[in-house]
Amino acid sequence: MEPAGVAERLHNKTFLITGATGFIAKLLVEKILRLQPPVKMLYLLVRAGDQASATERVRSEIMQLQIFRSLREKYQKHFSSWFWDKVYPVAGDVALKNLGIGDVALAKDILKETDIIIHMAATVNFRERYDKVLAINTMGVKHIIEIASQCANLELLLLGSTAYVNGKESGIMLEKPLHQYRSYDGQSDLDISEELGIGRGEAQGVSLQECFRRYYKMHHEDDWARKFGWMSTYVFTKAMSEMLAYEQILRLPIAIIRRTSTTSTWKEPFPGWIEGIKSVSTIDTWITNYGKGHLKVLPGDVTTVIDIVPADTVVNATLCIISYHTRAQSGLIYHIGSSMRNPLEIVELLHTMFRYFTETVYWCKGRGNQGEPADFASNNGQLL
Ligand SMILES: NC(=O)c1ccc[n+]([C@@H]2O[C@H](COP(=O)([O-])OP(=O)(O)OC[C@H]3O[C@@H](n4cnc5c(N)ncnc54)[C@H](OP(=O)(O)O)[C@@H]3O)[C@@H](O)[C@H]2O)c1
Repeated sequence: MEPAGVAERLHNKTFLITGATGFIAKLLVEKILRLQPPVKMLYLLVRAGDQASATERVRSEIMQLQIFRSLREKYQKHFSSWFWDKVYPVAGDVALKNLGIGDVALAKDILKETDIIIHMAATVNFRERYDKVLAINTMGVKHIIEIASQCANLELLLLGSTAYVNGKESGIMLEKPLHQYRSYDGQSDLDISEELGIGRGEAQGVSLQECFRRYYKMHHEDDWARKFGWMSTYVFTKAMSEMLAYEQILRLPIAIIRRTSTTSTWKEPFPGWIEGIKSVSTIDTWITNYGKGHLKVLPGDVTTVIDIVPADTVVNATLCIISYHTRAQSGLIYHIGSSMRNPLEIVELLHTMFRYFTETVYWCKGRGNQGEPADFASNNGQLL
């Protein structure tokens, strides 16, 4: 789709965006403002106790970032007033009813004005406690659906999800919707309301002892998630959030984006921007631990394809989806991944990491670096 077509669709629109202090949504905010300066308003819901703290978070964690440098150059001394004219911080918490928005007048304005909701708030910590992940990832979607249901002019509710809700299947397959009361393989029963009760330790018909047993299993072993066909609490709670969304599909204009792992920007707003290192198991953790010399062994098949997408590609694809979906009102699940078009084998990643750290930052070694990169390359690409 032509960028002009996308920009046209965003013209004069009002957005409610959650998770804007996170990696992807802040790039999305920057791109919307760069692509479509006359966008009407971006309400950014951030975790904060009051309006002043929300504004401070948006200022220090979004507006002041390097990624806004081209807009800063464009608007010069007017940048700040232009930014605040377009961006309205909202103090809230997606784990709470009504998204925890305490300002009733502001909540009414949001319901009246919002055209498009982009829900990116989530915890992507694979080792977070089950009740906390449930509250944010699953209940968060329930709460956003309740808000979406009250919006007077809603054109789209876009939910950020993960490609890994597809369980362990491999090969080409349909991005099928997930249904409540069914595990991934359809073999065992799954009752989300019971799960949500377990998260709070008060499931009906389940003894407190059983709640704690399941809670412990989920918290410590991920067994509970695996029982239903998902590999971790994170993916399980994202899958359940999709189930809640799917129940509303006939009532609300919902689209779900399932994406694979995301890494630094490819081109926009400039190459190589990334923020923060996520929890265990994500690609950025592999790379930094390898660079520090902590990751010396990576068991696996060197020809395995890992699917990673640059963050700006995710942002561009998201904007295309918004533009297409609001126009066509069709389709429910969109997939953003790289392995079909541009597969990356683990061995290629290893060679790239080796090249990068030896050619560019290996000089750190003599200056108190904690270790040295594992020598994958001299083993003919075989993993140690
Ligand atoms: N990163 C990946 O590789 C990846 C891959 C596939 C799918 N996804 C999905 O893509 C979406 C965005 O991911 P990301 O990488 O941008 O995540 P991220 O950088 O960890 O950002 C998460 C955002 O959610 C916010 N948040 C968490 N709990 C909240 C709450 N209770 N109320 C309000 N906001 C809350 C965080 O706010 P605070 O600043 O207050 O913590 C932060 O802004 C998520 O839905 C994630 O599941 C990510």
